[in-house]
Amino acid sequence: MSIFKRHIDQMSAYKPPLEGRDPQSYTLLDFNERTVPVADHIREALLAYVNSGRLQMYPSYGDITDRIGDYCGVPAEQVMITNGSDHGIELIIRSACSEGDEVIIPAPSFAMYNQVAGVENLNVIEPSYDFEHGYPVEEVISAVSDKTRVIVVCNPNNPSGTLVASEDILMIARAAPEAAILVDECYYEYSKATVASHLEECPNILVTRTFSKTWGLPSIRFGYILSAADNIRALLNVRGPYDINQFAVVAVAAALDKPEASMAYVDEVMTQSKPMLEAFLKERNIRFWPSAANYIWAFPDDAEALSEGLEKAAILVRPKADLEGNLGLRITLGTREQTEHLLWVLEGLLD
Ligand SMILES: Cc1ncc(COP(=O)(O)O)c(C=O)c1O
Repeated sequence: MSIFKRHIDQMSAYKPPLEGRDPQSYTLLDFNERTVPVADHIREALLAYVNSGRLQMYPSYGDITDRIGDYCGVPAEQVMITNGSDHGIELIIRSACSEGDEVIIPAPSFAMYNQVAGVENLNVIEPSYDFEHGYPVEEVISAVSDKTRVIVVCNPNNPSGTLVASEDILMIARAAPEAAILVDECYYEYSKATVASHLEECPNILVTRTFSKTWGLPSIRFGYILSAADNIRALLNVRGPYDINQFAVVAVAAALDKPEASMAYVDEVMTQSKPMLEAFLKERNIRFWPSAANYIWAFPDDAEALSEGLEKAAILVRPKADLEGNLGLRITLGTREQTEHLLWVLEGLLD
């Protein structure tokens, strides 16, 4: 007899395959991370904080929320900082739903939404993404009922990389005014697509974002939610006062001091590395989903063997099956030099 709720006991943990990921031994193209270390001034800011004699104090966040608001072009009252965007996703779903409510999570998508829905014992409705059309806008709208409390729009979607047009997100928000529309903009700086300018017009939209991907700081865990001020006030009642650690705030403040240092990498990935991999896949007739992010989900003939071959050549990618059970490889894009090396290795393996 367990002391916990039965459905929690019956769940499995969300355990991404992290073992053996060593950047000294491998080029890590398996987690959509930045593939090179962050700029020196960010590391120096962290070291200065360690040496500042303040580690014994609880975190205090200073003006970081205002700075995020400035960066996003929204007032600070529409911003709440979180411990990575996973934390934002969890807070939104937990705050909006009670046991037995419905959430609409188009599949396949990022695992965290279903994990939280499982913890809260929600009914998950999963319309399918479509290779031709991407996000299933019409199916989502027709699945809305008076029990729908959250609709997830992962934009761009992980693993497919596909984008939903802002007009479609607004249409969904208007079709389900009683539901929270969770727009996950984890890869925003890569895709440049956002509904952040529609928060007042659509007060049921909540955007989650992060410093894990484009800013290259997943280890320090810093994300944020953008939404109408009333939603932020409510969510602050749920978030703990110290949930975001001081290292994260220090690193993010430094990153925002010189955003061009992080964005130069984003440009290299999107304007050089991504077109190179796309051209390579097209030339070889390897099917891939059209991606607006720093990764491509491709379906070569023998994905498993290819993944093993890449690993032997010290490159890690992420095997992921689609809903029909076809195994694909989700390949993160790195620098131009890393992509040239990837293509050279791929060419050898495919020939
Ligand atoms: C779509 C999506 N949302 C959220 C996250 C989680 O990001 P964070 O590190 O900010 O928790 C990821 C990480 O892979 C992701 O792909």
